[in-house]
Amino acid sequence: MDNKKIVLSGIRPTGQLHLGNYLGALSNFVKMQNEGQYDSYYFIADLHALTTNPDPKELHTNVRHILAEYLAAGLDPEKSTIFVQSDVPEVSEMYLLLNMHVGIGELMRTAAFKDKARKALGITAPNQGDDDEDVAKEIIGASTNKRVNAGLLTYPTLMAVDILIQRADFVPVGKDQEQHLELTRRFARRFNSFYKTDYFKEPQNFNFGSAPVKVPGLDGSGKMGKSEGNCIYLVDEEKVIRKKVMRAVTDGGPTEPNQPMAEAVQNLFTILKLVGTPDKVEYFTEAYNNCSIRYGDLKKEIAEDIVALTTPIRERIIDIENDDAYLHRVLEMGAERARARASKTLADVREIMGITRF
Ligand code: TRP
Repeated sequence: MDNKKIVLSGIRPTGQLHLGNYLGALSNFVKMQNEGQYDSYYFIADLHALTTNPDPKELHTNVRHILAEYLAAGLDPEKSTIFVQSDVPEVSEMYLLLNMHVGIGELMRTAAFKDKARKALGITAPNQGDDDEDVAKEIIGASTNKRVNAGLLTYPTLMAVDILIQRADFVPVGKDQEQHLELTRRFARRFNSFYKTDYFKEPQNFNFGSAPVKVPGLDGSGKMGKSEGNCIYLVDEEKVIRKKVMRAVTDGGPTEPNQPMAEAVQNLFTILKLVGTPDKVEYFTEAYNNCSIRYGDLKKEIAEDIVALTTPIRERIIDIENDDAYLHRVLEMGAERARARASKTLADVREIMGITRF
């Protein structure tokens, strides 16, 4: 195990996972695990979920969901270290330490923070140009304490600690997390240069040999997200899946041969490519190009392919989710392994920073 590169990634427990999470992230976690080439760490970022102040009961249920979904999708506690972020208290301590080297300006300029802060404050259209200042003024000026908390601001510090404390080499994340990963590298470099050490290495994103998968939604534009009617959850029942897919947005159909596809239609083809076989993609592409396509048939095909993919996973999720003893065992094992590595890093960091025992 010792010389293997470390892979680490996490998902925030804010609800059940959908097909986009599965195809974009989770299925790749499983692939990397099974390649046997890496030492992999996959966790549930419950402390990150706290930045948006969830209901405590809901948070706990969501952690359980993601854990069951990890396991049902094929993550194996014998092969990967599977853990809950808050089970590793070393993370919280190092988060405090690393924050001493993180600037509030750079945090305020982080895209994800600005998005979330703007949403929380009800600032709709960001002004072009100096919207940084816009957000800053709003946050400092108005009575926003409840809506934009310091945890939200320091989200990137916590994420950097997740990664650095396990000394990860590779961090498979989607495009939306790339800026956070860039900050992680910056914090690592800054720490190293301040303390004149080369302690931290710079973690890299990981592309599984191909371009990152972006799974489009069913509502005609953008990527699959949690909004109503836009996504298929891994736990959706067959008839729900069929209903959602049949309602997916399309257009009036091609009227001329080889007509360019509207975004909504292109999205359906992208989904078919991800879940179906190449001959089906070819068949429907040809039908589109010669104007004989019936979107109903295309959707039926997509729905059946999704059902075939998710049904076995759904069944396992339901089994696993109710097996408290198993979940407990998995997390106990994961926490122990994750803590072993984290406590070593934390001890080193304390020493580097001058926190030494008498
Ligand atoms: N911020 C990530 C997301 O929202 C979740 C996350 C937290 C994470 N810590 C991480 C991902 C460390 C990779 C590595 O998707």
